[in-house]
This record gives sequence, C-alpha cells and structure tokens, in this order.
Amino acid sequence: MTRLRLGVLISGRGSNLQALIEATADPTYPAEIVQVISNRPDAAGLTRAEAAGLPSLIVDHTAFPDRPAFDREMTQALEEASVELVCLAGFMRLLSDEFVDHWRDRMINIHPSLLPAFKGLEVQERVLARGARFAGCTVHYVRKEMDTGPIIAQAAVPVRADDTADSLAARILEQEHRIYPLAVRLIAEGRVSIDAGDRARIADWPTVPGVLLNPPEA
Ligand code: GRF
Repeated sequence: MTRLRLGVLISGRGSNLQALIEATADPTYPAEIVQVISNRPDAAGLTRAEAAGLPSLIVDHTAFPDRPAFDREMTQALEEASVELVCLAGFMRLLSDEFVDHWRDRMINIHPSLLPAFKGLEVQERVLARGARFAGCTVHYVRKEMDTGPIIAQAAVPVRADDTADSLAARILEQEHRIYPLAVRLIAEGRVSIDAGDRARIADWPTVPGVLLNPPEA
C-alpha cells in the first residue's frame, strides 16, 4: 500500500496533529505524516512531532518580509518532502492567494463550527451568544476566503444550557479528533471528489440514521 504523504501545519497546541499522529501510527491507515511545519518556534505541537519522531520545521513568519515570501518557503519545504496533502491543524496565519491556488484541492482545514455558520475566531462565544442548539466541527478543502471550501466531514454536538465557551470547545475538540483522521482517510482512499459546483462528494456514503432534537421531546 502506498500511503498518502501528509504535511501538517500548526501554530500551537497540536491536539489535531496528535490525532493524526495516532491514526497514522496504524500501518493499515492509508496516509502518513512526512513533514510538520510550525510558524511559531514555541508551538507545543512541535514537542508532539518530535516525540513521534516526525520531521519538523519552524518557518517563523516574523523572519519574512511579506506573506508571499513566507508562503513560498513553506511550499518549498512541503515539496521537498513530496507532500501530497496539506493539513492545516490550528495554523493561525492567513495564507496568500498564491499558496491557496498552488495547493488547491490538495489542502484541508479543520474549523470548530458547523460551516458555513460561525466562520472566524472566538466561535463558541458567538454560538452561545446566538443560542444555537447544536455546534460542531468541519473538515473542508481550503479556498481563498477564510473558512470556506468544499465540506468533507462534520460532527455535530448538542449545546447544553450550562455550557461555557470552554466546555463547548472541549466537547467539540473530541469530535475534531475523530473527523480529521476520518476525512484524511476518505481522501487517501480516493473516495472524495469535487464536483462542478465545488462540492465534495463521497463515494459509497452511508446515511446517518435518526434525527436529533435539542431540547429533546419530553
Ligand atoms: C482547533 O479547535 C481547530 O478546529 C482550530 O484550531 C484549533 C487547533 O487546536 N482550527 P489544536 O492546535 O489542534 O489543538
């Protein structure tokens, strides 16, 4: 089996990187991490990469004159490692149009909301302020506009009456760690295609049974 070669871009904690590390540790998983890049020298995720024996690199954005120069350095490093799929995992830099074009349909992101709702930052504060009854996370291909692009996988979680942004974020994070490896697996198995309407289609997609109500019926 040839495994899809992943490059994972991080800026911080790296818990989604960890989920991918754990998934790829299984030799039957169809993808492997060949390069980790952090734009921040102090990212905790770098320690996770080292512990897993993965090649990691710091590309410090503050050392570059502009965004395109920083992005070109990352593309070079990713190409030197023959990366086939770029996985943004808590990567906190906006990317240049050139970078997004270069990796079009070969770059995915995870975002802690049910896109297209609640793009951007401080998501769970806004979910609570709006009184949404469900929250969740999305893995999607990356397009130029932030937090847009064909959706590959989502998980929904209920919002609880006593939730804080932190408690809700923690409930969602558990599901992020499930759907990121799932989405990568689907891509690596060649089951995801992008149609003319820029929607991601999954071959042999089993239907999720049931309907969830929040609050439930008495
Ligand atoms: C996650 O909530 C992810 O959805 C968002 O940034 C956070 C990264 O967390 N894009 P971690 O660094 O993977 O722990």
